[in-house]
Amino acid sequence: MCVPWRAWLSFVIVIMAQRLSILYNKKPCYDIVVSKSFEELAAELKDLGTGEKRVCIVTDSNVGVLYERELKEAIRDVCKKLCVYTFPAGEASKTLDSARDIYRYLIEEGFDRKDVLLALGGGVTGDLTGYVAATYLRGIDYVQIPTTLLAQADSSIGGKTGVDFDGYKNMVGAFKMPRLVYMNLSVLKTLPDRQYFSGFAEVMKHALIKDAGFYEWLLTNMYEICEKDLDTLEEMVMRSCAVKKAIVEKDPLEQGDRALLNLGHTVGHAIEKAKGFELYHGECVALGVVAAAYISYKKEYLSLEEYLEIRDMFVPFYLPITIENISPDEVLKLTKSDKKMENDSIKFILLKQIGKAVIDRSVTDQEILDALNEIYYREEDAYE
Ligand SMILES: NC(=O)c1ccc[n+]([C@@H]2O[C@H](COP(=O)([O-])OP(=O)(O)OC[C@H]3O[C@@H](n4cnc5c(N)ncnc54)[C@H](O)[C@@H]3O)[C@@H](O)[C@H]2O)c1
Ligand SMILES: [Zn+2]
Repeated sequence: MCVPWRAWLSFVIVIMAQRLSILYNKKPCYDIVVSKSFEELAAELKDLGTGEKRVCIVTDSNVGVLYERELKEAIRDVCKKLCVYTFPAGEASKTLDSARDIYRYLIEEGFDRKDVLLALGGGVTGDLTGYVAATYLRGIDYVQIPTTLLAQADSSIGGKTGVDFDGYKNMVGAFKMPRLVYMNLSVLKTLPDRQYFSGFAEVMKHALIKDAGFYEWLLTNMYEICEKDLDTLEEMVMRSCAVKKAIVEKDPLEQGDRALLNLGHTVGHAIEKAKGFELYHGECVALGVVAAAYISYKKEYLSLEEYLEIRDMFVPFYLPITIENISPDEVLKLTKSDKKMENDSIKFILLKQIGKAVIDRSVTDQEILDALNEIYYREEDAYE
């Protein structure tokens, strides 16, 4: 039997991409498509009706240089009109001023409520574009095309959007679900290593929260992960997204279990602030996870061996497990200003076991301080 080449091609394409469907209030809401190129995106957008719509790619100055042309070529034929808005890369652009600049651009380009934004970039691009999509004309559609590991494994899923305000992170925002999340894993090849490994901390966090088998898999595939092997990345990102999917579907608006995703973030955010944002977010999360694992060990949830294994697991991924030049007392104080405070008690996330995180409101200041002292690097310790 002779199979026409087009049929073969579509067969190859079908098995190339992997897909997860996110439910919202138990109904299908949007798909996560994990691919190794931009090739399948045109068909996905066509299904969203972009042939009749204006489409604006919103990207940052680093990502635009690398991928704007390739993306435009891949999707030009399925958009009524295609334009690009580029903003300066970096967290400093995640502001209401940037949102205002994008609103103005969309007005000038004649965008109406039926049109679509594509967020091409890391978490900053996704959060900012999502926020504009949530608010422009009381809401228009947007698609996430995440290009950092942090954004692929974590921030592009779940519909949290927002901007920083007067130095307060993510102070203004909205829940706005994307119509589609499309990941091209190949773009991770150009991501600087430090950014890549910082994003890995969130992957590790997902495994520890809910999937002990995934945690074992990460240990076994350490080398391939560090080498950014595409097949390994595909499985890693799919499994990481599956954990986030399970949690956000159960609790889309963060009223309960979604808080589990904050494992490592109470201490992590405090260290981020104490260090004046000189460390990357994932690096602080790794330190926060070590602190949470230490408290879990002290509360006899984890064995000493499990605590030490979790701590040392970060090392091959170039993530810190100790920190110097901070004041543990100051970091403790900063944990109090974290948004996870509720009625004066911190909603701390601990590990009952590897792959099972729990919300704990009983963690004392002294326990946090002990954990901070545990991760505090003193030069004299190095010579013991
Ligand atoms: N919405 C959520 O649920 C959620 C969750 C976690 C974090 N966040 C937010 O995400 C943001 C951090 O995201 P991030 O770490 O992706 O930062 P980012 O978007 O600033 O990207 C990091 C850097 O990598 C560059 N870059 C991106 N993709 C690249 C690629 N493929 N090749 C080369 N360079 C590339 C960017 O230009 C930038 O300089 C924070 O603002 C944080 O608040 C949001
Ligand atoms: Zn995080």
